[in-house]
Amino acid sequence: MTPAQKAGQLSQYMWADALTAADDEADGGLGDTMTPAQQRAQVEAALARGEVGSLLFVTDPEETNRLQRLALDGNPHGVPLLFGYDVIHGLRTIFPVPIAMAASWDPAIVERAQAVAAREARAVGIHWTFAPMVDIARDPRWGRIVEGAGEDAVLGAAIGAAQVRGFQGERWDDPERVIAGPKHFAGYGAAVGGRDYDEVELSDHRLWNVYLPPFRAAIEAGAGNVMTAYMDLNGIPATGNRWLFTEVLRETFGFDGFVVSDFNAVRNLVTHGFAADLRDAGVRALSAGTDMEMAMADPAFATLPDSLAAGDVDLDVLDRAARRVLLAKARAGLLDDPFVDVERSREVLADPAHREVAREAAERAAVLLRNEGSLLPLDPAALSRVAVLGPLAESRRDLLGPWCFDYDLDETPTLAEGLRARLGNAVVDSAWGVRPVVRPTPSLFDAHGGNKPIVPADFDDDAEFARAIELATAADVAVVVLGEWQNMIGEQASRSSLELPGRQLELLQAVVATGTPVVLCLVNGRPVDLRWAAENVPAIIELWYPGTQGAAAAARLLVGDVSPGGKLPLTWPRSVGQVPIVYSHTISHDPANQAARYWDEPSTPLFPFGHGLSYTRFAYGVVTLDRDSIGPDDTATVSVTVTNTGDHAADEVVQLYVHQRHGAASRPIRELKGFCRVTLEPGAAETVTFPLGRDQLTYWNAATRGWVLDATVVDIAVGGDSTAPFTAAVTVTAERAS
Ligand code: BGC
Repeated sequence: MTPAQKAGQLSQYMWADALTAADDEADGGLGDTMTPAQQRAQVEAALARGEVGSLLFVTDPEETNRLQRLALDGNPHGVPLLFGYDVIHGLRTIFPVPIAMAASWDPAIVERAQAVAAREARAVGIHWTFAPMVDIARDPRWGRIVEGAGEDAVLGAAIGAAQVRGFQGERWDDPERVIAGPKHFAGYGAAVGGRDYDEVELSDHRLWNVYLPPFRAAIEAGAGNVMTAYMDLNGIPATGNRWLFTEVLRETFGFDGFVVSDFNAVRNLVTHGFAADLRDAGVRALSAGTDMEMAMADPAFATLPDSLAAGDVDLDVLDRAARRVLLAKARAGLLDDPFVDVERSREVLADPAHREVAREAAERAAVLLRNEGSLLPLDPAALSRVAVLGPLAESRRDLLGPWCFDYDLDETPTLAEGLRARLGNAVVDSAWGVRPVVRPTPSLFDAHGGNKPIVPADFDDDAEFARAIELATAADVAVVVLGEWQNMIGEQASRSSLELPGRQLELLQAVVATGTPVVLCLVNGRPVDLRWAAENVPAIIELWYPGTQGAAAAARLLVGDVSPGGKLPLTWPRSVGQVPIVYSHTISHDPANQAARYWDEPSTPLFPFGHGLSYTRFAYGVVTLDRDSIGPDDTATVSVTVTNTGDHAADEVVQLYVHQRHGAASRPIRELKGFCRVTLEPGAAETVTFPLGRDQLTYWNAATRGWVLDATVVDIAVGGDSTAPFTAAVTVTAERAS
């Protein structure tokens, strides 16, 4: 290959078909410099020269084949294109959003869901997904909290690794799997103020102990790709950060795949005030360890041949990156058969088994936040009239959440339709009650069609509100569906407030005032301010954005065909003023003095990390250990027996937390170290065990700048959420490691 062709292998272009519709409303990332038609012409010319390694955003199998032919025809090197795409929570079959999947605390369902997503993606010609997002997120103002697994390193690592296994399977050349690309390396979730793309300041101990472990787990699970991040990490743009990609990713984690930049992030090194110009940006990104550049047009990597000729970049460095990309293509089986079987793709997308997995996933993801007086489950036999109210009650698109484009709305029933189908005999009325809220600034993805909230032209606010209250008054139960429209969350969708948008709280208050029992169903992807609801609404269930089968799942949950069993993967603040609030904080001066924190708000969250109820009760037995003390290479086994003492079959997520009493650093008041979701029939019991040893207790220490296992005493708590009391302890006789 010529240097230009090698540099071409390192270039990934957006295929701008998706942008034509967008053109009228937004610039789709093209700025004023180019029309979509000009951009496509640039890409096609580069394809014909054999100077494109990959395309993103092509999902039509026939178009994939056409572009692949263009890349191969008349091209001496004969290297096919790699097609990448954001397959975040499904392609045609849409699963609950990632934060919801994490709320299942069930790596097995996460793996099954992403295996289905991979099967659909590969069938249409996608070889590689830009997922999972394993960024820890501790600030619900940040819109992309919806794309990750929440605030905790151990849960995040388990969910991230399960996604990689689901996407990639055993072998990437499997015609039903895709390459996984954990992102965004690293620290993106800690954007200052929750503002997307804003700078990130993370101490080394926070990075190593909290933000990096999910990446390490995803890499150990075999991830073939890693994506860079947009923002500055401790003053250095992540995409040009040699330390991150060389010392951490390759040398410490042993990553042997290829690194792709985030979209336009290489050219943005100039915007950051880091690179002098486009050419400098290309040299510095490549030298730092970014192997492939994802770009809209005019990639910085197209200047690499000039930089090579000028001696600004070594041939070895260019070759190394090209080799990594070519190896990924070979491992993905592209050299054997790069074309798509269009007929088969239709069959795969229509597979009903995929929808079954989506329903199960939505059921396992739901979190029952409150259930006073056991209002739930509803008894269908006792219901003759149900009112389903709220501006999200009849929405299809919003049930799917952000980051999906290839869904089929015809197979996405609304929550009201789902209840109607399940309840059969009862009359199920629905009303929006309040006007849907439209963002004042369009979302990045509004232009992709059907993404904006729909407001009927003749919407009469007063009449609609009155109708909702009338229906609530006449009903046996009111199911109020509130939350955030899906275009209010995700990329470029941060908020400065956590209040329910628009007049939704007012509607809820008026419905509660009718005296009809109220079930609040939440459709959202981040905590919202529920202070009023948590005191006044008897039942609250977090459905998240539950996906294609969300309505069927919600109906089954509400009537008790299945019990909710999900748990919060994040600490739910009372108000935005508490943010950031995490369960695993350290204890410092005067911890019992609440007023030393806020005098105007309790320091506790509204719902703790790990919280989630079910339709039964669980009793925890005594926590036991098989030994009182452990040396550096020993592992203790923590055991507890959990019994279902209620009268519904249900799941419990048994959670192990530890607290180190003293040592070479102040360690968090508690940290999750293991979890296990069990299903128990009424009266049944199960003994759950967890290992506790070096792997769980070693941490990165800022004083020694290395990994430490302290000689100490470790308190142990096992229970159903992060308030479980400490009832056992183990002595660690380890020497301090370096
Ligand atoms: C996002 C990435 C995404 C990429 C391609 C970027 O704006 O930050 O997460 O994979 O676009 O769609």
